[in-house]
Amino acid sequence: MGGTSRILVVENEPHVRDYLLTTLKSDSFQIETAATGLEVLDRLQKEPAPDLIFLESLLPDMNGLEVLKRLRESQPTLRVIMFSGPCQPRMVMRALHLGALDYLSEPIRKSELQAVVSRILDNHLRPGNGSEPTLQTEDIGDNTTLVVASNEMHRIREQAALIATADVPVLLLGESGTGKGVLAQLIHKLSCRARNTFLKVNCAALPSELLESELFGYEVGAFTGATKSKPGKFELADKGTILLDEIGDMPIGLQGKLLHVLQDQQFFRLGGQSPIRVDVRVIAATNLDIKEAVASAKIRADLYYRLNAFTITLPPLRERRMIIPLLMKHFMAQFAAQYGREPREFSGRMLKAATDYTWPGNIRELENFVRRYLIIGEEADALRELETSQPETIEQGITSRHNGSNGSDSPNDLKSFVGGLKSGAEARAISDILDQTNWNRKEAARRLNISYKALLNKIQKYSLDIDPGQTPVS
Ligand SMILES: Nc1ncnc2c1ncn2[C@@H]1O[C@H](COP(=O)(O)OP(=O)(O)OP(=O)(O)O)[C@@H](O)[C@H]1O
Ligand SMILES: [Mg+2]
Repeated sequence: MGGTSRILVVENEPHVRDYLLTTLKSDSFQIETAATGLEVLDRLQKEPAPDLIFLESLLPDMNGLEVLKRLRESQPTLRVIMFSGPCQPRMVMRALHLGALDYLSEPIRKSELQAVVSRILDNHLRPGNGSEPTLQTEDIGDNTTLVVASNEMHRIREQAALIATADVPVLLLGESGTGKGVLAQLIHKLSCRARNTFLKVNCAALPSELLESELFGYEVGAFTGATKSKPGKFELADKGTILLDEIGDMPIGLQGKLLHVLQDQQFFRLGGQSPIRVDVRVIAATNLDIKEAVASAKIRADLYYRLNAFTITLPPLRERRMIIPLLMKHFMAQFAAQYGREPREFSGRMLKAATDYTWPGNIRELENFVRRYLIIGEEADALRELETSQPETIEQGITSRHNGSNGSDSPNDLKSFVGGLKSGAEARAISDILDQTNWNRKEAARRLNISYKALLNKIQKYSLDIDPGQTPVS
């Protein structure tokens, strides 16, 4: 790390200060201390700035936020990490707005402290920053493991951790399968709400009226058949977190109701007379181009502004190709252990084909691919899937068909560009998307970038409509 870095710890409580000093102790750091706000401000007038400052938010003489503000006014490049007692969401928000790089809540774990310090000092002191990606896994509850492999994902993981402690809405953007749901779960787990409920609602999966009653509940007689009252997801998630997935598919009227919940934390059940108060953190996710969705009034602008205070955008897998082999090996090991099988090796050709492939379904698709390969183990099939199902080919075909003169959606047209070559791959891709969208055909068609009618045709063609509980395709 190119020489020693100077770290200044500002804290007047001896036991916390000693803990920080012991934990940070290393040959690479020269650690200094100060006990009051005035002492720091005075010192920084006279001495060169340290590489990093740990600043307690409760100091005996001044509010830590005030110290932060003054420090950053006089030296805007100063790197400051604030810390305080357990979970103080408002304090976190203000500190971040004043330019703190991170905010740690006590008890501060050793690993957390070291991770933060090395991230900040490495980022700022190391030239280039082009280090090799490393893979880390983290249990985030509900039998889910978060995998963080690229530098960018490390940064996103840290951003999420930071946002988690600030009790505000979060907007997650990114293509399907990039991990928005997983990230929402991580945010919940790292927040003060971790011990309470985390619920997901897919806004694209239900028709409007059903979605409303699902979210907000109903009273007896609210509609035909409402013989018993029922609480909605917002009530069930009280004190916890709710993930509103595919927010762009929430009908505009309902978006208004959601806006009220965000503003006043209250709402009415369907047919209800008295307002219900809840304390729920909302995380919204969408794979739409959000600016366009707002411009075309698919998402209310006022709702968007409520949600977008903190936005995290997950990059598509094809923009971090170098981690593809790493992820494949990781998932192979994981699934092999899960299914009690010997993991299969990937040949060089397979890793190359996978690295070149565009993964339109992102990590979800990669996971499914590895799972299939483990179970079926036909290298030739797997390679064919990667080498021939280049989505550009399919997309091009679809686009030219849409722009074509006759504009017909008949399966014959489709055949002409798919060339009968990969019906299997196509059927599987369609079936995957239908599963992902809980058989919401409109949404599935949108994700596949084909018309609704074309999708219905394909469902019929491949006999995919054997889905329990679904009405057959007409
Ligand atoms: N970082 C990750 N670590 C581990 N698994 C991941 C990660 N990202 C995605 N996955 C896997 O990919 C699948 C899809 O992830 P997720 O549902 O979070 O994506 P999404 O962005 O919400 O997609 P969609 O919009 O289609 O719902 C998950 O089931 C998860 O197993
Ligand atoms: Mg999801």
